[in-house]
Amino acid sequence: MEAEMRILITGSAGFIGFSLARRLLENGHAVEGLDAMTPYYDPALKQARLDILRSYPKFTFTEMNIENRQKVEDLFAKVRPTHVVHLAGQVGVRYSLSHPGDYVAANIVGSFHIIEAARQTGVAHLLMASTSSAYGANTRFPAKEKDHADHPLTIYAASKRASELIAHSYSDLYRLPVTMMRFFTVYGPWGRPDMAPMLFLDALLHNRPIDVFNHGKMTRDFTYIDDLTLSLEKLMGNAPIAGAPVGDFDSLSPVAPHRVVNIGNADPIELMDFIVAIENTTGKKFQVNMRDMQPGDMVNTCADTRLLQALTHYKPTTRVEDGVAELTSWYRDFYAL
Ligand SMILES: NC(=O)c1ccc[n+]([C@@H]2O[C@H](COP(=O)([O-])OP(=O)(O)OC[C@H]3O[C@@H](n4cnc5c(N)ncnc54)[C@H](O)[C@@H]3O)[C@@H](O)[C@H]2O)c1
Repeated sequence: MEAEMRILITGSAGFIGFSLARRLLENGHAVEGLDAMTPYYDPALKQARLDILRSYPKFTFTEMNIENRQKVEDLFAKVRPTHVVHLAGQVGVRYSLSHPGDYVAANIVGSFHIIEAARQTGVAHLLMASTSSAYGANTRFPAKEKDHADHPLTIYAASKRASELIAHSYSDLYRLPVTMMRFFTVYGPWGRPDMAPMLFLDALLHNRPIDVFNHGKMTRDFTYIDDLTLSLEKLMGNAPIAGAPVGDFDSLSPVAPHRVVNIGNADPIELMDFIVAIENTTGKKFQVNMRDMQPGDMVNTCADTRLLQALTHYKPTTRVEDGVAELTSWYRDFYAL
């Protein structure tokens, strides 16, 4: 990547934004971060991540909400970023069942503000977070970027898919290079307390039972955070060029510099095996309540990552036992358990 890039990361106090910002800062880049520090999960964890980023002299931060269009445009005009990694958003599949409006506001309206500001200032590459949930009712696995993603099962998935489509129209109209990144269940140190790996770990270390949905009959393409941020770093310098697909599996738009890329492990594991990996690491046994399937949940996720590999020449390498061990070690340290 070029050293003179001006990088803006939205959601930089979040799990992925923080992890990517730290990697880029470690590698000598300057990073501008923004985050609204929303209370969806413990803001103290977001603050702790931010405190680490603030220890790097090349990190600057603005606390702001992307739903405020004027503030977004003012920040872009001031920073004039060349590369924007847009990770801010309302997360959580299950929460979207009870708070649908939050997803429209942050993920559709807020993302539109980012796309519009990127157009105004002429960003060289806009990378935006989407999700494996966009595949929705698709049952073909591994999921390919060119598969249909027209049957979302939750407003979370629908809001992310909508932002993909809005970005495509801007990419075509204004030749804005956009990469939409469909992430597959990311886990690791500094992770999200609302997601299964940390929920499970927390219950185990506090001797509480866990709920396992669909009676454990689920597979997930768990992606380790360092593998993901390395992929992102490599993708940043690889903006899509209209008319130049990298292979017959490329999702590059037929008209615009816009592509969708799966970022996953391409090696799904049974949920129960993930649970056993946590038991092996901690030396403790879970008390498990088997539950029925939750509305909106997907039974299986698995990424086809040929496009990611062609673009980055990189394949995720972390074994789940090692990833779980890293997560557990950080968790015990951070929460003094
Ligand atoms: N972690 C995963 O497994 C996963 C999977 C698929 C997609 N994603 C997507 O990746 C992105 C990052 O996810 P994460 O796991 O780091 O989540 P996160 O919640 O830890 O990070 C998101 C950050 O965005 C901030 N934010 C929320 N609404 C905002 C707003 N309106 N304005 C400004 N900031 C706002 C939050 O305060 C938070 O710090 C999200 O867009 C998410 O939907 C994550």
